[in-house]
Amino acid sequence: MALRTRENDCPGQAGPSTGSVIVRADLPDEKLDQALRPQLLADFTGQRDLRRRLKVSIDAARIRKSPLDHVLFSGPPGLGKTTLAAIIAREMGSHFHSTSAPALSRPGDLAKILTTLETGDVLFIDEIHRLNRICEEILYPAMEDGFIDLIVGEGALAQSIKLQLKPFTLVGATTRVGMLTSPLKSRFGIELKLEFYPPEDLSSILHRSASLLELQLDPEASLILARRARMTPRIANRLLKRVRDYATVAGLNRITAEFAGECLEQLGVDEMGLIETDRRLLSLMLDRYGGGPVGLRTLAALVDEDERTIEEDHEPFMLRAGLWEKTPQGRRATELAARHLGLEFPLLQKQLF
Ligand SMILES: Nc1ncnc2c1ncn2[C@@H]1O[C@H](COP(=O)(O)OP(=O)(O)OP(=O)(O)O)[C@@H](O)[C@H]1O
Ligand SMILES: [Mg+2]
Repeated sequence: MALRTRENDCPGQAGPSTGSVIVRADLPDEKLDQALRPQLLADFTGQRDLRRRLKVSIDAARIRKSPLDHVLFSGPPGLGKTTLAAIIAREMGSHFHSTSAPALSRPGDLAKILTTLETGDVLFIDEIHRLNRICEEILYPAMEDGFIDLIVGEGALAQSIKLQLKPFTLVGATTRVGMLTSPLKSRFGIELKLEFYPPEDLSSILHRSASLLELQLDPEASLILARRARMTPRIANRLLKRVRDYATVAGLNRITAEFAGECLEQLGVDEMGLIETDRRLLSLMLDRYGGGPVGLRTLAALVDEDERTIEEDHEPFMLRAGLWEKTPQGRRATELAARHLGLEFPLLQKQLF
């Protein structure tokens, strides 16, 4: 079911803007995450081309006083897709309705949401690549012509009724854009791909988060955290929150580079930002399988994770950082991975690369 919010309701914050607003210290972690989310496009750091393109489309829709065209965000987890969807609603002054494809199992669920949308509302469907076929077919005419066709009754008594919808904006998000069918993909007028963040952008995000948390973060400390955040804002904020825990216990309000480095070591986050599971994956590939190729199912079983977690959470960064390669036969660890772990790069692999 969709969650409907007026987009200036943000726990821990006084209003839609950010900057000078301080996050209350007693907020639980998930509320804290929400409070750290940028509220407006101007607060959203990095992704410059994407922001520029989105801003032009939003400004044009505002000038024309018409809803924004449907938007599809794609990219690895934690880069800001959900954040941007909420920003669109806020920038357009519209209601934000949020749901996810796995929650829409019956067509009636989707029809109910679509028919309650007001003119200009934003409907956000997360993990849109997981939408089932029937729901997807309801979306086609809804997105293109603003109506839905519903079948009411069964057998000989079944009737098709056409329901007119108010003009709305669908915002879809996916970590697996390749899994979207082309009829669905082609109905999004604006397609935007989020890229991994360079350390400078993550460092700015960390400074903004630290000031909301009333923490003094030294510039060198923010760079250390940024370099180990796997190019991902969610991970950067997560590291900051954990370092803040250590600071709270130590009675400190200032994070120095030395303190940040010690905390990361205790948290098991290495210089490349790898955690225990990543290192185990790579060392098993190198030690037990001569570097690979290793099938996804085997990899998942080795570290007791499911295949989707490996493919969606671990793999994008591994590929981007050049730690493993994807081949038709499976995943192969690279020489960089061996060097990073201080392991011998298998002889056979040396000949292949
Ligand atoms: N550009 C950014 N500037 C500041 N903070 C950001 C930015 N992008 C993401 N964040 C922070 O990172 C967190 C994760 O972002 P978000 O939930 O939007 O990612 P996502 O792409 O939707 O991830 P998933 O695919 O897992 O749903 C948010 O809490 C937000 O505070
Ligand atoms: Mg999301």
